[in-house]
Order: sequence, then C-alpha cells, then structure tokens
Amino acid sequence: MCAALVLSAADPRAIAEAAAAVRRGALIAFPTETVYGLGADAGDDLAVAAIFAAKGRPAHNPLIVHVAEAPEAERFGRMDDRARRLAEAFWPGPLTLVLPRAVGAPVSHLATAGLPTVALRVPGHPVAQALLRAARRPLAAPSANVSGRISPTEAAPVVETLGDRLAVILDAGPCLVGVESTIVGLAGDHPVLLRPGGVAAEAIEALIGPLSMPEAGIVAAPGMLASHYAPTARVRLDIVSARADEALLAFGPDVPNGGCMVLNLSPAGDLAEAASNLYAHLRALDRPGVAAIAVMPIPERGLGRAINDRLRRAAAPR
Ligand code: TXA
Ligand code: MG
Repeated sequence: MCAALVLSAADPRAIAEAAAAVRRGALIAFPTETVYGLGADAGDDLAVAAIFAAKGRPAHNPLIVHVAEAPEAERFGRMDDRARRLAEAFWPGPLTLVLPRAVGAPVSHLATAGLPTVALRVPGHPVAQALLRAARRPLAAPSANVSGRISPTEAAPVVETLGDRLAVILDAGPCLVGVESTIVGLAGDHPVLLRPGGVAAEAIEALIGPLSMPEAGIVAAPGMLASHYAPTARVRLDIVSARADEALLAFGPDVPNGGCMVLNLSPAGDLAEAASNLYAHLRALDRPGVAAIAVMPIPERGLGRAINDRLRRAAAPR
C-alpha cells in the first residue's frame, strides 16, 4: 500500500508539498546524487524517531544531517581547516564529514544517537538543494530503504517498501552517483575513512593527507555492520564463472559464460558507471529461483572501493 503523495520533481507543486510536509514533522523521500534519502526535520525529535521506526533502524545508528550549503554546516559541527578544505572541494557533493557537534547545535540527539559528533553533508542534487532551501530545516536523512537492505537509486522501490510511511515521495529518476557518500571522520587528530563512497578516497587524501581505516573491533560508523546492502539471494564474489542457476553481475568487456541472467555494471569497465548501476542491477538480479548472484571481480581503486565495500557486505553471512 502507498499512502504517500508521489510527485515528479518536475511538477511545480512538488518542492512546496515536500517542504511543507517536512515543516509539519512528516517523513518524505527525496533524490540525492548518491541514493534516495528518507528525510525529516533533523531538529524535531518525533520526526526523527519516525525515521528510525519506518526503517526498522536500531537507535544507536546515527543519521546524516543534510544542509544546503557549507556555511550552514558550521552551526551544527565544528569545522577545522581540514573540514573546510574538503567542504570547499567536494560540497555540494557525495561527501559526509563527521565533526565534533557544535555547542547548541539545533539537531535532535536522537539523530546523532547521543554521540558527541555529527555527520554533515551538503548534497549536490538540484532537487535536494531546492527542498533544503524551501523547507529551511536541516534534513536528517538515511538512505530510503528498510534497514539492512539495498539502498534505492530510483523512486519505485521507495514507493513499494516505504510508501505507507511517507507523506511525499519526490521522483527525479535514477541517481547519477549510485553509491552512498564517502564518510570521513574528522573528530580526532587523524582523518578516518569511515565509509568509502561517491568521492574517491584518493581525491580526499590528495587534500588532507592519508586516511586511516577505522580501528579493528570498533564500529566507528555504527551503520557499517558486516551484513548490509543485502539482496534476498546469496551473493558470491570474485567469480571466474557462474553456475547455471546463478545470476551473473558482470564488469568489463570479457564476460564469462554461464548464469541464468546476466547484467553488466559497465561493459567498458568504467567504475563510475558501475557505481551508478550497482544497486539497480542487484535488485533486478534478485529474483525468486536465482540460487545466488555471482559477481565478477571489480578493481579496488577510485569508486571501486565503494562498490567492493557494498558487495562484501551484501555477501557477508547474515
Ligand atoms: O549518500 C548518503 O550518504 C545517503 C544520502 C541519503 O545522503 N545517506 C546515507 O545514510 O547513506 P545512511 O543512514 O544510510 O548511512 C549513514 C552512515 C551510517 O553508517 C551511520 O552509522 C554513519 O553514517 N554515521 C552517521 N552519523 C555518524 C557519526 N556521528 N559518527 C560516525 N558515523 C556516523
Ligand atoms: Mg543506508
């Protein structure tokens, strides 16, 4: 069932309807350049609580706070020189910064899961930008999927899975980047790559020096649990050939034989194209009767790091 008002983002009413819903504390879904977000007023405890309920998300897993521009982010997080350099280079865009929470930051403690830090992002998608400016509220927004499942890069899966929980769904077609934002932790002395994503880690390191990986045993971004981004079918990685009852997720020009279905992330071997197709292809291959999704190797560089990170989580024991 879908009780939500589903509006094309090109509809002249769309932004105003969604902004009004945010301002009255309702939940909405909106496109970003990475994936669709499930948004609500980040300053409204009840609205934020409704996000956790709709997703079935554990309350210890904090949300990203989206704002329209970098200067606004300073009200929420303490930005140092590294943060400003990254903001200058990559905002608006697929980068999230985890910063010490600013004193008096008007963000629900539920959104930050009671942490002394806050995750901030300035999305680049024109619809997200228009919405933030019309609502004049910071938007707490996780990906618009049920917790643990594949993130949506189109409106249709949001309508299907969360339509009965949302007031408005803005449809702007497929997301160009296709994997979530890169998350960099800047709360300590050393910058940490909390989640590889839409901005290549190499590009970040070129500006602020080496990124360390989260310490083993500590889940630095509480959402980065092993099993995540999971289709219903099992996922088998780095395959050389696919079995007859498997669906093949290919990459590059040399596709092995086998598989009952084949989709190619990028026949040309382009990692940005592969990232933009990743979730839609996983969804399309996740059919009843498919024994497993068999995935060809993807190079571990640039956006390939984000793709491999999501695939490893999709393949993790559940
Ligand atoms: O591209 C994206 O980032 C999308 C779009 C909608 O903006 N959002 C997204 O949100 O991926 P979500 O909730 O699916 O993932 C946010 C991740 C989680 O792993 C969460 O644990 C982490 O960010 N996170 C949020 N606040 C944090 C904090 N204060 N410290 C460490 N990790 C944090
Ligand atoms: Mg998510």
